[in-house]
Amino acid sequence: MGKGGKNEVKEFTGMWREHPQATASTSGRLCAPHPESSDSAAPRCSNDDRMTKMSFTLQINGAPKAVDVDGDTPLLWVIRDVLGMTGTKFGCGAALCGACTVHIDGVATRSCITPVDSVEGAEVTTIEAIGATPVGAQIQKAWLDLDVPQCGYCQSGQIMSAAELLAGNPDPSDSDIDAAMAGNACRCGTYLRIREAIKQAAATSTSRQQGG
Ligand code: FES
Ligand code: FES
Repeated sequence: MGKGGKNEVKEFTGMWREHPQATASTSGRLCAPHPESSDSAAPRCSNDDRMTKMSFTLQINGAPKAVDVDGDTPLLWVIRDVLGMTGTKFGCGAALCGACTVHIDGVATRSCITPVDSVEGAEVTTIEAIGATPVGAQIQKAWLDLDVPQCGYCQSGQIMSAAELLAGNPDPSDSDIDAAMAGNACRCGTYLRIREAIKQAAATSTSRQQGG
């Protein structure tokens, strides 16, 4: 078992949640800005900082994926740029917006600050596969029924956080929803529709469990 097991993940205590290995391994910075980033001030690594590429086998959406990258490469970069799975979005690169949220062993995690070497052996689930879970399917249906997205950019992260919430709490209160979704920003302001969609998904799931 590699790093990143469910029991290692911290409880939600603030605006966002990070993988437990992230801070120690990245020292709170990225080595280079993401190609989509407009942040030209983001620090770049010196030659001394750079690590030799290593081979990792990641479990992503139930399938093994072999990649050759530096161990401190953010998981988001690997998912998008190496594996070509672009459903997970880059927003801030600093664990502030939630656009990059994936599940690591079922825990919603900011992939932009999660070094790839911390998730080897863990099960990574992205937006491309969340609809295969019962909760994920109900959430995606509710999102469509209520026309939640506006521009859509934040929505994969929103759905991943909502899926974690309903997997652990099938009947959340408004305050439960607000707390769980607090770290996912939406510049289009779809927050009320997101909350209603989570309620609809919860009601559908609860009704099914009761045979309704
Ligand atoms: S891109 Fe990861 S939290 Fe914003
Ligand atoms: S739908 Fe546009 S940022 Fe959320």
